[in-house]
Amino acid sequence: MAVLLSTKPAVMEEWRAALLALDPTLDIRLYPEVGAPQDIEAAICWTSHDLADLRRYPRLRLLISMGAGVDHLLRPPGPPPGVAVARLKDELLTTAMGEWVLLNVLRFHRQDLEYRDQQRQRIWRELPAPETARRRVGFLGLGELGAHAAGLCRSLGFPVLGWTRTPRSLPGVECFHGPEGLAAMLPRCDILVCLLPLTPQTRGILNARTLSLLPRGAYVINGARGGHVVDADLLAALESGQVAAAALDVFDPEPLPPDHPYWTHPRVIVTPHAASITIPRSVAPQVVENLVRLREGRPLIHLVDLARGY
Ligand code: GLV
Repeated sequence: MAVLLSTKPAVMEEWRAALLALDPTLDIRLYPEVGAPQDIEAAICWTSHDLADLRRYPRLRLLISMGAGVDHLLRPPGPPPGVAVARLKDELLTTAMGEWVLLNVLRFHRQDLEYRDQQRQRIWRELPAPETARRRVGFLGLGELGAHAAGLCRSLGFPVLGWTRTPRSLPGVECFHGPEGLAAMLPRCDILVCLLPLTPQTRGILNARTLSLLPRGAYVINGARGGHVVDADLLAALESGQVAAAALDVFDPEPLPPDHPYWTHPRVIVTPHAASITIPRSVAPQVVENLVRLREGRPLIHLVDLARGY
């Protein structure tokens, strides 16, 4: 059984080493050097892989994402029929995203943009004291990443709200679901954090209408996918003051084009899809576990519901 690996060359080497360290018998083929197409039974792919190429491997049965998200594997034309798709669930990925969310929640809560600005101008002026118990943080998505980040915010004393597609309950989080739930939650979010999977239903969920439902001067944090945001609408909301500032780690397209207004916007924090980066050594055990299960015909782990899209 051969395994196709496909991402940037330097990253592929790291993945290969991490997988071989656990199972030296694995036959790993680095794209595009795949050898005989009929050897390939599993593929581990990141965003750059052309999904049409996957139709060249007649015995392919499993497609593994190199990250928590799988939208890059489900976009048209999608995985070949009959091929299962698995994602990664990893403590380091979850922890890193929690840190990035907290960094930005605290940045906005503690008026860091304003104080940096004052420092540049040598202005000694205290702003109104921020109160944790009065700064409501709302989460779109309470999956692995969202639930963890929500828990971190709660542990600091922020009132935490969360929205999911279907009903969900999480201790200490005021939960909302469905379209009515979204409209009910947004007016109560001083800081809105998006950690949703990108699906046809969630694409563009941060748009003129939803942003207008936030309290005036709310903050937006997106660590999910660029496709969740309608950029023109967010820029307009920043312009009008409806949104006070945004922290964005993800964009559509990536890399963010050099002339994009986000780069130089004084109220936008840009990071280059670096909030939570997969560490091959950390995720290798679950990947090898799935390859062994595939070989032995046992049930696979971390499978994605293809109809649901995550
Ligand atoms: C990163 O974007 C991931 O999906 O893990």
